[in-house]
Amino acid sequence: MLEELKLKMIREGTTSILVPDPSFYLREDKVYEPAWAPVFYNPRMEFNRDVSVLFVKSYFQQTPLLVADPLAGTGVRGIRIVREVGEDIHAYINDINPIASELCEKNVELNSLADRIIVENYDANMMLRLHAFMGEKFDYIDIDPFGSPIPFIDSAISAVKGGGVVALTATDTAPLMGVFPEVCARRYWSKPIRSGFAKELAVRIVLATLVLRSAALDMCIKPLLAYYADHYIRVYISLERSARKASKMLEKLSYVIYNKNSGEYRISEDPCPPVSSKDFVVGGPLYSGFLVDTDLANRMLNNLKTLKLGTKNVVERLLKLLIEGGTLPPLYYNIDELCSKKKINAPPINSIIAELRNKGYNACRVFWDSKGVKTTAPYEELLRVVSRLSS
Ligand SMILES: C[S@@+](CC[C@H](N)C(=O)[O-])C[C@H]1O[C@@H](n2cnc3c(N)ncnc32)[C@H](O)[C@@H]1O
Repeated sequence: MLEELKLKMIREGTTSILVPDPSFYLREDKVYEPAWAPVFYNPRMEFNRDVSVLFVKSYFQQTPLLVADPLAGTGVRGIRIVREVGEDIHAYINDINPIASELCEKNVELNSLADRIIVENYDANMMLRLHAFMGEKFDYIDIDPFGSPIPFIDSAISAVKGGGVVALTATDTAPLMGVFPEVCARRYWSKPIRSGFAKELAVRIVLATLVLRSAALDMCIKPLLAYYADHYIRVYISLERSARKASKMLEKLSYVIYNKNSGEYRISEDPCPPVSSKDFVVGGPLYSGFLVDTDLANRMLNNLKTLKLGTKNVVERLLKLLIEGGTLPPLYYNIDELCSKKKINAPPINSIIAELRNKGYNACRVFWDSKGVKTTAPYEELLRVVSRLSS
């Protein structure tokens, strides 16, 4: 019952929200674990929510918009989008947990948004399918589940308008990064690799799954923004009904051949590339296209100046690095991994990037890995630069 909850007011962006007071919901070891509270709220996901507010503000050029937040928890994400993006945004926010749904109602009232937000209490798939069945499709659907988004992908695809956007979070990073490859194979039909580039491979595996599942329904996706942060993967895709384009999109699926001894990798179109020894492993399928629409990212950078976001500096860094790395080939080298394989000291990342650029290659840092370098330089050239700077 909502009356029995110990609540606390927090502020994100320009929105005030009631959330379970962490001091009343500590585990026995005195740690606050959001999933153990009666309603889920994770303050560490503010950055994730800031990016969604900025995304909706920057991607959609026309209103009105209809938004769905089918796994809403306290309602913070959907309420923030409606309040902070603009006047003509309406939303359905939903949670299967009746206490969460009651708290969403309270937060909607608190923000005087009852005329723009309807709260529901269904299973997320049922909620999305019901709206689609009634012909009320969404411009933007935000899937933010516990763990994997897989159980909700097909209904999100069925409930989004043509040209609309599905955003999703995946926190099942252990399977996606190769700690539990059999789970990844089952959920995502793809093979991850434990390697320096595992985080970006995980992002690209999620996108490959979205390409495949959408194509099966004659839908084509366009990745707009995709990244890894903290312990989750976040992707934004637009969808269009087109069997022809969906087939074409399958061409963007590739595989990665990784040499466990040297750390070198190569992207291949061939699902069973010939490899010469057991040192090699093959991962994928992975999406090998761009992770960002640079025009959109530039609009987001522009709008960042006008929105009041608590994690503005991190959002700016994300967008700038995605733009810098935007046209570079998939994946990257983790310099610590490379140096440990070669038994040499790791030089500073900035000096490696500067040296590669001096030599005429494109090179930049990676948002999700402080030791990561993305470059157009071939492996041997990168190794020469790293070895020279290390001595
Ligand atoms: C990670 S939390 C959502 C957090 C929220 N989006 C935010 O930004 O704070 C996941 C939520 O999904 C709800 N949930 C779990 N399974 C569900 C289902 N099948 N249908 C609807 N809601 C579900 C949980 O009760 C929980 O509140």
